[in-house]
Amino acid sequence: MNKTRICIRGTGSFAPEKILSNEDLTRMVDTTDEWITTRTGIRERHIADKDTATSDLAAAAVLRALEAAGLGVADIDLIVLGTATPDMLFPSTAALVQAKLGAAGAVAFDVSAACSGFIYAIAVARGLIETGPYRNAVVIGAETLTRIVDWDDRTTCVLFGDGAGAVVLGPTDDEREICSIELCTDGTLSHLLHMPAGGSRMPASEETVKKRLHCIHMEGREVFKHAVKFMTRAMNAALEQAGMSTDDLDLFIPHQANLRIMEAVSKRMKIPEEKVFINVDRYGNTSAASVPIALDEAVRAGRCPRGTTVGLVAFGGGFTSASAVVKL
Ligand code: ACO
Repeated sequence: MNKTRICIRGTGSFAPEKILSNEDLTRMVDTTDEWITTRTGIRERHIADKDTATSDLAAAAVLRALEAAGLGVADIDLIVLGTATPDMLFPSTAALVQAKLGAAGAVAFDVSAACSGFIYAIAVARGLIETGPYRNAVVIGAETLTRIVDWDDRTTCVLFGDGAGAVVLGPTDDEREICSIELCTDGTLSHLLHMPAGGSRMPASEETVKKRLHCIHMEGREVFKHAVKFMTRAMNAALEQAGMSTDDLDLFIPHQANLRIMEAVSKRMKIPEEKVFINVDRYGNTSAASVPIALDEAVRAGRCPRGTTVGLVAFGGGFTSASAVVKL
């Protein structure tokens, strides 16, 4: 029996209006625009205001993706959302998005894979459309990372931003297709990038708040090394699975964590600069939202006309890595 082929039918993204520049950060911690720019490529990032949570950004991105796909809220039967910064531990942020949109017929749940969450969510949604009763899925990567940043820690607070990206997935009978997806997890390295408190291992207490254990803790140099290795391996594996090589990629959209990481991966894979999509300078690292925001910007900028082959790759806490080859 032939498998149902699945494609991306539309993309959308949303970022909060408020922008925090490197210059603003120099008034908050001991840093400089020059340090941040040369070490990370980041110039500014969007910050959600205090009344905005992850589900608000997600719902706004979904409406744009639905519009691009020419579909309405009533057409959605599945919502899968990747995030490391849910509105709350439960219910899922996807359930809150379902309620906000009024998508009463949609099954909704979250996927937890940190920065790789969006591509993990695509894999789950694709599988459910292939095998289940679902037809139109909305897949979201949405984050309010700035809520779990220690604003006194200059080594991490300069890196992150808020935003959301979404795609509509559905069956296809044209050339558009998700050609391959590759997922990988190494839980032995989880201690290098995590938020220690707030779960069952270390519930919230006065002490955990005082010790700032509800913030991102990261071994930057170690994460950097592993990010390059994992992302290169993941992208090569997805290409191999699709029966393609790097030369077949028209556009490469890596997780926008750090310009130097993206340059190192592209160099190892021999992907020329002009094929690499970069927007980390304007968003910082938006974790699970980074790939779908970049994908939506690339589509809207006319860089992905019909028939374009795009490579997506992400890496994050877990460690997790994920990649996909997509024909748009
Ligand atoms: N401003 C000025 N100086 C700083 C800052 C800052 N914001 N942050 C650190 N420094 C200083 C350090 O204190 C250190 O000073 P010292 O030499 O006197 O001790 C010096 O700069 C060098 O610090 P390193 O940590 O070695 O700097 P490095 O070149 O490794 O860059 C960075 C740090 C940008 C965090 C880098 O390691 C990195 O990008 N790592 C990957 C991080 C990442 O991408 N994480 C997320 C991936 S997964 C996900 O998306 C969740």
